[in-house]
Amino acid sequence: MTGKKDDTTHLIGLLLGTESDWPRAFETLVRGLGPVRHRGKDHRISTERITIEPFDLRDPVRHDVVIDRLAWWYFHPREWLKKASLVNDTYLLNNPFTFQAMEKHSAYCAMIRLGFDIPPTVLVPYKNPIDHEKWAYTASTYNLPFDLDEVADRVGFPMFMKPFDGGAWRGVSRIDDTAALHHAYDASGQMLMHLQSAVSPFDSFARSLTIGPETQVMKFRPELPMHDRYEVAHNFLPAEAGQEVLTLSRTINAFFRWEFNSCEALVTGQRVQPIDYANACPDIAITSLHYYFPWAIRNLISWSVFCAVTGRRGQVDTSTRAWFAVGDDPDLSWTDKLGQYAQLADEYFQADEYREFCATSLAALPEMVHEWIGSSAFDDLLIETVKATYPAEEHDRFAAHFRGLLAMWHADQVGASPDQPDSPRATARPSAPVSEVRPTS
Ligand SMILES: Nc1ncnc2c1ncn2[C@@H]1O[C@H](COP(=O)(O)OP(=O)(O)OP(=O)(O)O)[C@@H](O)[C@H]1O
Ligand SMILES: [Mg+2]
Repeated sequence: MTGKKDDTTHLIGLLLGTESDWPRAFETLVRGLGPVRHRGKDHRISTERITIEPFDLRDPVRHDVVIDRLAWWYFHPREWLKKASLVNDTYLLNNPFTFQAMEKHSAYCAMIRLGFDIPPTVLVPYKNPIDHEKWAYTASTYNLPFDLDEVADRVGFPMFMKPFDGGAWRGVSRIDDTAALHHAYDASGQMLMHLQSAVSPFDSFARSLTIGPETQVMKFRPELPMHDRYEVAHNFLPAEAGQEVLTLSRTINAFFRWEFNSCEALVTGQRVQPIDYANACPDIAITSLHYYFPWAIRNLISWSVFCAVTGRRGQVDTSTRAWFAVGDDPDLSWTDKLGQYAQLADEYFQADEYREFCATSLAALPEMVHEWIGSSAFDDLLIETVKATYPAEEHDRFAAHFRGLLAMWHADQVGASPDQPDSPRATARPSAPVSEVRPTS
């Protein structure tokens, strides 16, 4: 049923929306990788972009692994992914079952249970009737009238109103007073909304991109245009808070079986308050990640190749009890709990085995990525991406901006640790003041 001929040829499928920058990078680098030697055998990896067509539920599937950036909004391929997982044992980044069932709201709930410092959050009923023939009777019988101002008093101003299943900033508003609250609720219509206490002020907005067991924590500025949101800043968090942010991201991913996700937390001193962490199809465009793009592409390759070559099995089901046992244990301190969550995450992600695989079977990959980022082939891709993304009068400015940031990454690798070639945690030198090294714009 899996349709596989042997266990040393592996196909990684890319399920894509509109992007072509990182997929081209991924395809080029995987092509350049050559055979991957693991346990005495040479494994050949190829890639394919998945197309959408009718499928029989019993059709064979040729892909060992699929990286999905589409199924969060396009449901036909999402159902194909589920069939491929259930019938053919295709390994998925991400798990569509938990992503569909466990959106932002469930992630808040689970992380509250595990002890993370989620800001006070209340789910209010729909403002407008939902389109269902049973609504009128059910609502008139069972919906209790409620006082929005009283709920707001509990949450406190300022607050955010945002959809329980949020994404892409749809329907998010910051609310400073009663008038704005009523206006936003009236406008929410048929969206189901959270009211969440604003974390304000805070020291840093940490956005973490996690791929398999590895996490890159980046300083984020949501108020700026996309190309400027990630600031190049190393070691910007106090050590303990940085560790908590790392553990938080891995915990969420291991808990929900997501392998490619971004998490947001607001950090004040050592206090870490997570606000958004069910983005299990994250944007990794060159024009968003810039300096951090090589890290993302290398880890996406390493993790998907690891899963394909070692035959890692996807898990549709979760093991929430193991996590709750830690979260509910009154004898464990918060530090103990974080330590145990980190351990559970490492076990789920086979972190030791993965790192060993990267250091042996994929030992040449970091240098390959480094060379390629410095090549004219990468520059061509960068310029094509800039031309496809920005209006003509901005091409020169953005070309200089991204070339500068990637040149900075390229230069920063010299002398970096071979284990974590592009991790800020491994950067021994002090943080470079960004204003000094930043390119144009
Ligand atoms: N509790 C909060 N305290 C402070 N700021 C918040 C809070 N909740 C949301 N925000 C701000 O609103 C923005 C959007 O909220 P959130 O990330 O929850 O929505 P989203 O639709 O998932 O957005 P995206 O998909 O862009 O991440 C956040 O990036 C942050 O700047
Ligand atoms: Mg967000």
